[in-house]
Formats: sequence, C-alpha cells, structure tokens
Amino acid sequence: MSATLFRGRLLWFDHEPEGAEDISAYNYVEDGGLAVEFGRIAWSGPWAQLPAKWQKVEPVDHRPHLIVPGFIDCHIHFPQGQVVGSYAGSLLEWLNNYTFIEEQKYAEPAHAGRMAGAFLDMLAAYGTTTALVYGSVHRQSVDALLGEALQRDMRMIAGKVMMDRNAPEPLTDTAQSGYDDTKALIADWHGKGRVEVAISPRFALTSTDAQMEAAGTLVREHPDCLMQTHLSENHAEIAAVAELFPWSKDYTDIYDHFGLLGRKSMFGHCIHQSEREIARMSESDSVAVFCPTSNLFLGSGLFSLNKMRSANPHVRHAIATDIGGGTSWSMLRTLDEGYKVLNLQGERYHPLRSFYQATLGNAAAIGMEDRIGKLAAGYEADFIVLDAKSNPAMALRSETISTLSEELFLMQTLGDDRTVAATIVSGVTAHQLPKR
Ligand code: GUN
Ligand code: ZN
Repeated sequence: MSATLFRGRLLWFDHEPEGAEDISAYNYVEDGGLAVEFGRIAWSGPWAQLPAKWQKVEPVDHRPHLIVPGFIDCHIHFPQGQVVGSYAGSLLEWLNNYTFIEEQKYAEPAHAGRMAGAFLDMLAAYGTTTALVYGSVHRQSVDALLGEALQRDMRMIAGKVMMDRNAPEPLTDTAQSGYDDTKALIADWHGKGRVEVAISPRFALTSTDAQMEAAGTLVREHPDCLMQTHLSENHAEIAAVAELFPWSKDYTDIYDHFGLLGRKSMFGHCIHQSEREIARMSESDSVAVFCPTSNLFLGSGLFSLNKMRSANPHVRHAIATDIGGGTSWSMLRTLDEGYKVLNLQGERYHPLRSFYQATLGNAAAIGMEDRIGKLAAGYEADFIVLDAKSNPAMALRSETISTLSEELFLMQTLGDDRTVAATIVSGVTAHQLPKR
C-alpha cells in the first residue's frame, strides 16, 4: 500500500503545558508533513526533511491551515442528538420530560441505525475522532453505534446504560439483564477493530443496590474496560440519591462502596463534591469529566479545576460536550464555555492547556495516550485541519494575531464546525468542507 501524504502546519503536545510560554510541551512545525500508512502515522516532521521514499507522492496540501490530532470527547450521549436544546429548567425535569421519552426510540434497530450514521457524521464534521459514549438502555443501540464505527474505522467506546429504577418502564433493565447485556456487548465488540465497550451504570438514582453490585462485578471481571457514570451534578439529584442510599457518607461513597472508583472510571460533572470526595477521587485515580455547556444549560453549577487540583495528587480530569444536556457538538465551543466557567471563579485555562486537554489530555484520561492524541510516528492517523479564518469575524480578528497561542485562543473563542476544514480518520478524509 502506498502512503498518503498531508502537508500543513503541525501542532501536537507531548505533555501538559505548565503555562502559556511552555514551549517544551508541544511540537510545532511551520511547514510540516505527515506520511500515513495502514491507518497510522508513519512519519511526521518538517516538509524539507520528507524521507526520499515518499518524495514522489503528491500530498494533500492543507497549507496554511493547522493540523492537530482529532478531538476526543470524553462524555456524550448517543440517543440525545435530538434532545439538544430542549426547554427544561434543570437536570431531573430535563431527564423526565424530554430525555427519557426520546431514548425509548432506540429500542428500534432501524431508528438506532439511522441515528448511528448521523451521530458519527456529526462528530466528524465537528472534528471529534474519538468519543466515550452512553447508549440507551437497549443493547441494540450500542450494536448500531459500534457497528457503524467499526465500518468507518473510528475509535469509539460505548456502553448501554444500566437503569433498573426511577425511569419509565420501557427504559429499565434489571440487575441481571443489565449485567448480561453488558457482558454480551463486551463479548461482541470489545477490542474489535478500534471499538471498545464501557460499563455504564447511568447514575446512582436509576440503579438499585443490586444493579450497582452487578456493575461492580463487571468492573472486577473486565479491568480493561472503562466505566462511566454521572456524579454530583445537581443539588436535587444529590438529595434524591442520598435518600436512596442512606448509609452512604456522600454521593462519591456510593460508587466507592460498590467498587466503581479507579483509574478506568470516568465521572461526569463532579461539581458539588466535598473535600472528602475529592480526596477519594485523587486516591483512586478516578477521572472527573468537565461538561461546561451542559452545566451552564441545565444550571447545574460551576466545575472548579482548582478544587480538583487541591488534592495531591491532582484529580485526573477530562473535558466533554455531554450532548444533549450540552448544547454544542463542538469541542472548540466546549473549550470556550469551559474557559468562561473557570474564569467566573478566578481560574484560568490558557489556550495551550485547552488544546492539550481536547487532544492528548483527554486521550490520557481514557488511557489511550499511547495510540491517539499525537501526530507522532506510530500513532493512529486521526487528525483535523483547522482554519483560523473560517468565518468573517475570525478573519477580521486574525489580522491582529501574531502568536500560536493567540491563534488557538481565537479558534476556541470564535470557532465552530466551520473551523474544521477537514477530518481525517484512520488516514482517510472522512469530512471536508469546500475550499474557501
Ligand atoms: N444524569 C443522568 N443521566 C444524565 C444525562 O443523560 N445527562 C446529564 N447531563 N446528566 C445525567
Ligand atoms: Zn451525561
């Protein structure tokens, strides 16, 4: 197989930047090349140093745009693409009045199949090449999504939500069927091509003790699977959960009790946790997933990075859209809203830090930093082409921009799907806007 070559400005991170001037954290190549073979990056570097064996290959020329690793979304709901923007006050009202109605449609394989194509198209259009996804309660929703991802050779991780109480009857499983269906999904999909299965008890409010126990058993039986759930998002939710588990010290203690904390555990939101809960997150190496557009839309509260970093070691964290509580599929919009949430609390997230987080940082949160999140040789060839002048406001503002950090911050502040000129998945262009 001959290689595919791409040319453009390249940017990728090797570690988290310490500050806006930390040039040791990243690689930036003004006129760069990427050679892709068998879905992986075979070489990356300055175009002038392109190895002789590829010099006769015509490159896909993306100059003057910036090529970065594909964005990674660490918390998104497959059955909520048609829930985004539902007029609800807060979490529980939004779940009961809209979300739990919509998710019932995913029992139907034809609907799930059509939505799987739309979901993956949408991710590609917004520059997201990997996502950690909640399905509906129906295992067929995950079959549809992972089947489509496998065909497209996209790196996707998904699980059926386990819910055996406090939801409409058509959306509930049982402790046993939730366990069995998750096992079956793992057997059918986990590690097939680039897809994986996540153990996904939705949240403590919709699981009985028996189901939480079953989720803990799954985590013990499948230590290589990620576990995802929601934690400490909304005050009414926290109060309801406390009533259901009266023996618990707090919300985090419930998951802890059932063996659900750990290095592979991804907890959405983590807004209202106490010092004790933060300490347990830190000790257990668990990940807190910041979902800024969702937290603002549902009025849930302000996630604090400083709080996560008050623990030693720091609580690991990720950033995510949380579609459809979240209001944008765009990781650029998500970074922008994240910046504002932190700024409201006197905290800062400089642009290098943001782009690190949406790429290698999120890859590390899901334990895939050896495969995705960099443009280095050996990495999977998932990358995106960003155009800093992709709308009139950006073109105007670009005139006064001179540094890389300024350009990144411009794309985060004013960018959206128009900023993603192309998305390359496994070395193949999966999405491309017409050239400006
Ligand atoms: N908590 C339990 N389920 C959900 C969900 O679908 N979205 C959000 N934002 N929070 C939840
Ligand atoms: Zn969620």
